[in-house]
Amino acid sequence: MNGPERRVAVFPGKHLLDGFMLEEWVMAAMGAVQRRGRFVAALAGGRTPESFYELLAGSGRSLPWEDTHIFLTDERCVPAGHPDSNFGMIEAALLGRVPVPEANIHQVPVELAPGRAATNYEREMRRFFGLKQGGFPKFDLVLLGLGRDGHTASLFPGDPAVTEARRLAVAVARSEPDHDRVTLTLPVINGAEVVVFMVTGGDKAAALRSVLEGPGDGSPAARVRSRQGRTVFLADGQAGTLLKKLPRVKRPGPSRG
Ligand code: 6PG
Repeated sequence: MNGPERRVAVFPGKHLLDGFMLEEWVMAAMGAVQRRGRFVAALAGGRTPESFYELLAGSGRSLPWEDTHIFLTDERCVPAGHPDSNFGMIEAALLGRVPVPEANIHQVPVELAPGRAATNYEREMRRFFGLKQGGFPKFDLVLLGLGRDGHTASLFPGDPAVTEARRLAVAVARSEPDHDRVTLTLPVINGAEVVVFMVTGGDKAAALRSVLEGPGDGSPAARVRSRQGRTVFLADGQAGTLLKKLPRVKRPGPSRG
């Protein structure tokens, strides 16, 4: 049974998409801290979200950074200084520019072998969320990108990680020139209060149409659906060019939950 519907908004330009995402972030952060005393987000890597991270860092908005906790949706198993490191990009664009406490930044331990790194990351989530065996975390916000092949986080079509139903994080073997990865699993992503995809560029148009309007292509991204909360796709005009029902851009509603 699929959860609540997915919302789609197409923006004329990436700067408008980033601006909308900034309001989503502010809404989610303020709401979570008001209700639960903390805001826990999992951030995507890749290129798409970088401009949003930079906008957020420079926004000057008064945000509860001291009560904000940051995890990653996935990481390449390379050192933080490596140009392909998701953490390296997120730290340069955002974390190094906002007053989030060091202890609130939950990195994937990439210095370990991928399997160990995944197990440790899973243990860190169990500790942080106070989970019993079999329990799943509830992130307030999970930010995702979309690959041309329909992958999201490091959940690639055909990889056993996509159907992992018990674990919170797993290692994903990739071949050169890619890197082995560690990724959150779908049960974790779908447990989030708000899941937001940021998708830009004409090269993602076919994948986005397939995920949103295709015959249930079963791609990893098509399997993402917040169980109780909201699943939002934010696209620029190029990525949304093949969508038949062009949705209206609405102001972000108050995050529930
Ligand atoms: C990663 C990301 C991955 C990314 C998509 C889109 O580690 O690469 O988590 O899922 O979001 O591949 O990447 P771009 O934003 O660079 O197009």
